[in-house]
Amino acid sequence: MCPSPNELKALTAKTRGRRRALIQVLQDIQDRFHWLPPEALEHVAEALGVPLVQVYGVATFYRSFSLSPRGRHICTVCLGTACHVRGGGAVLDEFERKLGVAAGGTTPDGAYTLERVNCLGACALAPLAVVDGRYYGQMTQAKVEGVLAEIKKDRAA
Ligand code: FES
Repeated sequence: MCPSPNELKALTAKTRGRRRALIQVLQDIQDRFHWLPPEALEHVAEALGVPLVQVYGVATFYRSFSLSPRGRHICTVCLGTACHVRGGGAVLDEFERKLGVAAGGTTPDGAYTLERVNCLGACALAPLAVVDGRYYGQMTQAKVEGVLAEIKKDRAA
């Protein structure tokens, strides 16, 4: 989903000319659209009076910002050493099968983005998956369907 010019104006209205608000504005756009479209970055640069190169610098520095479209739900599977040796690869395979998208991709309906990472710093929970910020430790292939069903249930609520 891409923001309309009016949505961008609304998101930057209170911060016009306030350079220090850059990260907050980018966070607001990321929260609303799940990524930072190029036209949004150009609008932010103009509204805040910040060089576009600086806006891109911040947008690419923080891992929480994405310059490509992401799904409404983020599924992250760890394939760091501890998770890998305890079956993280099979868990990732199952997410790929169930979602019909390879790691790094987003489902065509924009609902899910599947990512793989190398260690989330919670190796005792290996193998680990994180979905929308919720940690699922000791993951197995068999648990993937339940995790995805939980998301759908939350979405319906
Ligand atoms: S290797 Fe997966 S959390 Fe550390």
